[in-house]
Amino acid sequence: MATLVIKDLFVKVKDLDVEILKGVNLTISDQETVALLGPNGHGKSTLLSAIMGHPKYEVTSGEITLDGKNVLEMEVDERSKAGLFLGMQHPSEVPGVINSDFLKAAMNVRREKPITLVELYRQLEQASKQMKIPMELTHRHLNEGFSGGERKRNEILQLLLLQPEIAMLDEIDSGLDVDALQAVADAIKQLQAKTKMSFLIISHYARLFQMIQPTRVVVMINGRVALEGGPEVITKIDGSGYEWLTKEYGIRITKEQKGEKPVSMNTVSIGVCATNEASKK
Ligand SMILES: Nc1ncnc2c1ncn2[C@@H]1O[C@H](COP(=O)(O)OP(=O)(O)OP(=O)(O)O)[C@@H](O)[C@H]1O
Ligand SMILES: [Mg+2]
Repeated sequence: MATLVIKDLFVKVKDLDVEILKGVNLTISDQETVALLGPNGHGKSTLLSAIMGHPKYEVTSGEITLDGKNVLEMEVDERSKAGLFLGMQHPSEVPGVINSDFLKAAMNVRREKPITLVELYRQLEQASKQMKIPMELTHRHLNEGFSGGERKRNEILQLLLLQPEIAMLDEIDSGLDVDALQAVADAIKQLQAKTKMSFLIISHYARLFQMIQPTRVVVMINGRVALEGGPEVITKIDGSGYEWLTKEYGIRITKEQKGEKPVSMNTVSIGVCATNEASKK
């Protein structure tokens, strides 16, 4: 059982006077699949990086807790050990580190007894087959020379092996061919059905979400959660973009300039009867 709570989170780029997240509030409970959408450059990846503890970002105020434990006090490896996982939008090359060695080390962090080689290879073989990744890829340096699609499949391979409590996947569907997209969706569906894992999934496209059926949809605009709703929000965004948010809810999409006062914008919840009331405010 795991609950991730983000309270009034402000994040800036370290060493730069650039504030990206401006008061994010979000809770992810057990076995939820939360879809995170929003226009380019509005802070989605920054949120996931801040949760995982990326050193490029500095939390200036707010809280992140996992089952009541203060995530902000944890190093990145402690966050992983606590059950957080990030499948990155742009997985980076790690020359000199063999993929399978990396996986073994990451798995051992969460185990009392180190995994045996036999067990590691059994699991690797199974997950590689599932993700249609040639075993050869697991013996290469992590992501070095991997194609875009291979990197994304490899992120899901890691997810299958690490079995975190909260899986955050950043545009995992970008660059995937049709078969790989199906394999990724099947892997997520399997984890949804067989584990208590929760998901926070960023994508710009309805296709993946149609396959994995999110329980909740969150839209991030200007570094805040501007709207929460059900799958109908994805359909609307897929068909009409983001401009309707301005018309229907008065949510301003244009990014705020530095120093500009933020507009007052409570999170609007759609799919409930309060919707129209909220949008009039
Ligand atoms: N290191 C950095 N230096 C300067 N600006 C940054 C840095 N990192 C992020 N930003 C800026 O923060 C904003 C939010 O970036 P982020 O990557 O979180 O957006 P996003 O919502 O994930 O967008 P996309 O949908 O395009 O992936 C962008 O304007 C980006 O240029
Ligand atoms: Mg992004």
